[in-house]
Amino acid sequence: MTPKRRKQNTANAAWGGRFAAGPAAVMQQINASLEVDKRLYAQDIAGSLAHCAMLVRKRIISRSDGNAIARGLGRIRREIESGIFPFRIEHEDIHLNIEARLSEVIGKAAGRLHTARSRNDQVATDFKLWVRDAIATMDRQIAALQGALITQAERHAATVMPGFTHLQVGQPVTFGHHLLAYVEMLGRDRGRLADCSKRLNESPLGSGALAGTSFPIDRAMTAKAMGFDRPTANSLDAVSDRDFALEFLSAVAIAGVHLSRFAEEIIIWVSEPFRFIKLSDAYTTGSSMMPQKRNPDAAELVRAKAGRLIGTLTGLLAVMKGLPLAYAKDMQEDKPPVFDAVDTMTLCLAAVTGMVQDMKPDKASMKKVAMSGFSTATDLADWLVRKIGMPFREAHHVTGALVARAEALNCMLSELSIEEMRKIEKRITPSIFKVLTVEQSVESRTSFGGTAPVNVARAATAARKRFLGKVK
Ligand code: ARG
Repeated sequence: MTPKRRKQNTANAAWGGRFAAGPAAVMQQINASLEVDKRLYAQDIAGSLAHCAMLVRKRIISRSDGNAIARGLGRIRREIESGIFPFRIEHEDIHLNIEARLSEVIGKAAGRLHTARSRNDQVATDFKLWVRDAIATMDRQIAALQGALITQAERHAATVMPGFTHLQVGQPVTFGHHLLAYVEMLGRDRGRLADCSKRLNESPLGSGALAGTSFPIDRAMTAKAMGFDRPTANSLDAVSDRDFALEFLSAVAIAGVHLSRFAEEIIIWVSEPFRFIKLSDAYTTGSSMMPQKRNPDAAELVRAKAGRLIGTLTGLLAVMKGLPLAYAKDMQEDKPPVFDAVDTMTLCLAAVTGMVQDMKPDKASMKKVAMSGFSTATDLADWLVRKIGMPFREAHHVTGALVARAEALNCMLSELSIEEMRKIEKRITPSIFKVLTVEQSVESRTSFGGTAPVNVARAATAARKRFLGKVK
């Protein structure tokens, strides 16, 4: 692309006072952020209304100008929401578009709104308000997913499935227990988002471009009007840090990793060799060549989108890492990753919630695999410890020999005869058979946080109360 020459006489109305000519076309293109930051319009208007009311209260602008500004901003909000607002790329971003429109709508008084304010404190304020709202919405979306998981966990508190380590059958667990593991992870995700929301809740407005202002403003008043806990304490910090966005992206990336791990499990569970769960047509697609196929595309995309979420975090970290204080235009690149992360996460949460509601476990296949791989070997070793007082290490060794024997006879531990067992350890009695089935195994895991069905049912109720604030 050949850069065009500066156009004549089109200097920016908001800051073009010292410019003789307008920007090259490519300058406008690289400089404008309107298409992205349009999404801040509601926050921008809310911030301006708070600022305007404060300017009036402090007698920095007249009441009549203040009223005109507030009325004009109300009209602009309606124009944007009804899709008739004349967005103009020449005005760079949402802030300048609203200001330019305000002067068309109310005339000269519009020029007083930006008294004691800079776009630097304005954008930091708007963006914080936006992220705060996004966190509130995301919190509800994650809670909905927790609700869906808890409902399935209640249904399947006693449904036996194999628990894995190294993706090898380890010990039997219940499907409900497995699902509640994700409820805990998502609970911490919500906690991280809540922390972020709490920490970001200080108002940058009134920090000016970087140094504060000489006007007798009341920052506590604007902070309060916008629901911030207090004004930020340092003007340079207020306009130049985006750690709130980084913290948010980090929390979202971690949540995305949780969803991705779950998506990966769904992919494994629906695969033919496993067949642990069934997803309906609603969350699968077919193959254009193989008519029998039913592919878990939604889960695969959730798994992939975690990569994209991680990318938003690393991308913004890289933008920020070399910036001297205070504001630099680099920071305009803060919004695309945050908006993208929110859109991506919203979609992933909806898809995963839908799949959780939709999934039907195949109890027979789960149980069959749970019974394989000598999954109750630990129960056998524990029996030797409990009934004949063997040290666990020795019991582990004896159990290993019994497993080897069962393997040689091609049978399960519960199918070994008492005689076979006694050849290896003569103190074994028939009561050992009480601990070798998968049902007995899970029922015995009653330690706090363990997989026993009674625990799982109780844990589901507790989770409902803890995370959703309600009893069923
Ligand atoms: N569009 C800009 C951004 O998002 C607004 C702040 C512009 N400030 C400035 N000093 N040029 O960062």
